[in-house]
Amino acid sequence: MQKIIILDFGSQTTQLIGRRVRELGTFCEILPYDRFPAGDPDVIGVILSGSPLSVYADDAFRPDLSAVFDRYPVLGICYGAQLISYSFGGRVENSGTREYGRALLSEVDSDCPLFRGIEQGSQVWMSHGDSVTALPEGFRLAASTDTVRNAAFWNPGRKIWGVQFHPEVVHSVQGAQLLGNFVSGICGSRGEWTADSFVETTVRQLREELGDGKVILGLSGGVDSSVAAVLLNRAVGDRLTGIFVNHGLLRKNEFGDVLADYRKLGLNVIGVDASARFLSALEGVDDPERKRKIIGGLFIEVFNAEAAKIPGVSYLAQGTIYPDRIESHNITGKVIKSHHNVGGLPKDMKLKLCEPLKWLFKDEVRAVGLSLGMPRHMLFRHPFPGPGLAVRIPGEVTPEKVRILQDVDDIFIRSLRSEGLYDDIWQAGAILLPVRSVGVMGDERTYDYAVVLRAVTSSDAMTADWAFLPEGFMRRISNEIINKVRGVNRVCYDISSKPPSTIEWE
Ligand code: XMP
Repeated sequence: MQKIIILDFGSQTTQLIGRRVRELGTFCEILPYDRFPAGDPDVIGVILSGSPLSVYADDAFRPDLSAVFDRYPVLGICYGAQLISYSFGGRVENSGTREYGRALLSEVDSDCPLFRGIEQGSQVWMSHGDSVTALPEGFRLAASTDTVRNAAFWNPGRKIWGVQFHPEVVHSVQGAQLLGNFVSGICGSRGEWTADSFVETTVRQLREELGDGKVILGLSGGVDSSVAAVLLNRAVGDRLTGIFVNHGLLRKNEFGDVLADYRKLGLNVIGVDASARFLSALEGVDDPERKRKIIGGLFIEVFNAEAAKIPGVSYLAQGTIYPDRIESHNITGKVIKSHHNVGGLPKDMKLKLCEPLKWLFKDEVRAVGLSLGMPRHMLFRHPFPGPGLAVRIPGEVTPEKVRILQDVDDIFIRSLRSEGLYDDIWQAGAILLPVRSVGVMGDERTYDYAVVLRAVTSSDAMTADWAFLPEGFMRRISNEIINKVRGVNRVCYDISSKPPSTIEWE
């Protein structure tokens, strides 16, 4: 399958370039800047990302790109553009002031295929300190802005383009069009990458890879593991066994509801209710990290014990997705992150790993789920932390507190759904404070728990803002929670953003 290679020089928006290219129906891989896969016959073009560095700095990333230039069409974005200029003898200088935000294009070269359909005055987004102040020989201006003369340039003969602005961010209004011009018009992408084609090829590959092997998969009710399960089920049917462990810290009725969903989809799933074991292991523990460790450790124990009951298993499948695996460089050039979704697996594990979603971004996982006929409520649900409600009960977790929190959370989430607010929110839930406060109900004095509601907007959980919920909604749920949930007499709303706070309280 045709693909674009995105060489990552450490910009915060590199993943976004990848997502935009995929949205254009073209497969792409994001690789560290010095790992270009020379000789890969599927490559049709290369994008050089931005970077926090200056090209003329001693520690700048200046890899040998002789396997790239003059072999493939190249688009450099921000640092990528500066690197092109620097490599071909142009001048890059610190512009004195860092320029962030909106700029308008002028002098757009209508002969330049990268700018086909892009209008004079089109808004683009800048984020840079350095600028290209003199173009290398053989390069031509393609567009300017008020403050940046060489905002875009190209070398028609060598098929090299550089843009100082960031077409991958939504604030660059015609950014998707520009990337489309590169990927389709210049590189010749046939737009083969679709959810349906992914399902078809992946099912075929899984059948070849797994043969008659038996597969187990840990299910959490979350989007990734659920889609992985349905995809694998399509490939190997009942030779896939899903194991869904209830640690007693799920949402109200979630264990039963999710199991029912899985069974409706025809999955072969074992539901293990280990609530009592988890809750007793958490007795007297109030340190957040210890809670996480206890839950994680016990989870693997319970999972392994169930897995051992299934004879002849040779594969362990996981719902690892692409952002879990993208390696990134820190600015000294060392790989700092290389997370794999295999944390906690025994070192001596005999099972082979199978990760059918490992090339997909989150929105693609959802599209694949839709293509597999999965219901929207499974695919568009809010994220939920692995340790569940335990990280929303600061202090000791007790069965009584879990019951109270489940009831509060249930009213909140059901109301968000019924009032059409759920889909505009990234994540919502409730926190049970280890605090009692005085209240009055009827003629009685009460001394009960205070709960906090939290609802945030976000696009990746790295940053988040508190959601502004309508006043009428706030009034209704506060009343309903206090009237219906025994043990609660006060409802607060968390108005902290991330940073400096986090989404969860622990
Ligand atoms: P924070 O609280 O760090 O959360 O802003 C960011 C996102 O990560 C989720 N989260 C977790 N997910 N295990 C998980 O599987 C955890 O221990 C954990 N802690 C936080 C959180 O729900 C949010 O979506």
